Amino acid sequence: MITVLGLGFVGLTTALGFSKKGFKVYGIDVNQERVEKLRGYEVPFYEPHLDEALRQQLGHNFWLDVPLVEAVRNSKVIILCVGTPGNPDGSADLTYLLQAVHDVFEASSGEFKVIVTKSTVPPSTVTNKVKPYVEELNRQYNKPIGLASNPEFLREGYAWDDFMHPDRIVIGVEDEDSKEVLNEIYQPFHAPVHYVSFNSAEFIKYLSNTLLSTLISFSNEMAMIAEHIGGIDVAGAFKILHQDKRWFGAPAAMASYVYPGCGYGGYCLPKDTAALVSIAQEHGFTPHILAGNLQINEEIKDFVVSKIMAAVPASSTIGILGLAFKSGSDDVRLSPSKSIIEKLLAQGYSRIVAYDPMANEIFAQEYGLPITYTNTLEDLVEQADELVLLTGWPEFRQNKHLITSKRLFDFRHTLAELPQAPILKAEEVA
Ligand SMILES: NC(=O)c1ccc[n+]([C@@H]2O[C@H](COP(=O)([O-])OP(=O)(O)OC[C@H]3O[C@@H](n4cnc5c(N)ncnc54)[C@H](O)[C@@H]3O)[C@@H](O)[C@H]2O)c1
Repeated sequence: MITVLGLGFVGLTTALGFSKKGFKVYGIDVNQERVEKLRGYEVPFYEPHLDEALRQQLGHNFWLDVPLVEAVRNSKVIILCVGTPGNPDGSADLTYLLQAVHDVFEASSGEFKVIVTKSTVPPSTVTNKVKPYVEELNRQYNKPIGLASNPEFLREGYAWDDFMHPDRIVIGVEDEDSKEVLNEIYQPFHAPVHYVSFNSAEFIKYLSNTLLSTLISFSNEMAMIAEHIGGIDVAGAFKILHQDKRWFGAPAAMASYVYPGCGYGGYCLPKDTAALVSIAQEHGFTPHILAGNLQINEEIKDFVVSKIMAAVPASSTIGILGLAFKSGSDDVRLSPSKSIIEKLLAQGYSRIVAYDPMANEIFAQEYGLPITYTNTLEDLVEQADELVLLTGWPEFRQNKHLITSKRLFDFRHTLAELPQAPILKAEEVA
């Protein structure tokens, strides 16, 4: 049995979705008007397919008239889908969420169950606010309740389809018992399930939403630049942008631009971004996203250097993996490797040895930096105390074993796999 607390867009969809998959689900909401409508088979907001699912499931696998105490006692999983509105300072208001956690503890019988937060909360909220509260209530009530964070990615207007056919399921969980329960309820969805840390689960949700909001604001900023310059068919320009083949395919090649690294370089992106900022300003418009974009491209290199400085003594021999601005090219113009090596030299790292499958010679000729080069990856690894990967060449990925034989700073995240959280037994985290 599953109890869902909060029957808004997310909660009602979740409750009906699990009912449809064959689970018995209790739906609870503090808003009696909302519950009353649902009892009359009326969905209190517009969301396609939910009315049909409600007609099918209410009284079959979905129950509304059960008091919270009975619902929680009969359930292994309690999914919290209450609102997390924004406070005036931008932070998330956790009042409803923490109240719901409290309600569950009050109602619980003492048998192990898992509270699942599906409400959207900023990264670190479960670890720093919900988990300590659960632990405090655990002590107070002496009721074993596990915790999982399971952000929801559904879109209003497509909620039913998104929930029933998820492209991925993300679960932040720290104990094996809770993981087992979550595993059971998501089995019927036949989607990849990623078990990650609490912070990662929350971050993945915000990664998604803030990418979307940034893309929208980027598009609006570009439209404002276009209007200031004039003579541009803005909508037409965007429609033509959409024909770029990098949007298509699974995975779409555009995804490679939505991945962290150590900054963009080369002949086009840096100068063209700077030039558009400049021409927009000439036409009386200051583009904040593009200006911020250029600033981040500098800051990421300082961030890389600060990470090295925090861990590596200046006397170490640093092996630089990659000099070209991107893999598959020997172009070293405005390569992040150049700035990062210069910054390291300026910080007193005088023993730098570098290897690039294609760009050693041209880099040496162009920049004449006081570093040495090796002709093979093997030689670089042998000579270096620490390795710093700055260009995502396939050769590095193919020689994972070799390059991880020394401490590796993989600033292109080129060796990263899909995440897996270390899972502990419930008693180890209680
Ligand atoms: N709407 C979306 O598209 C969407 C998508 C993904 C995630 N989310 C997140 O999911 C959460 C819920 O969003 P929503 O749009 O469904 O919100 P909503 O406001 O439509 O629904 C929340 C419901 O929770 C009820 N509630 C509050 N406290 C309660 C308690 N203690 N016990 C039982 N019920 C209680 C409220 O009465 C309300 O009906 C939010 O954190 C939101 O950010 C929303």
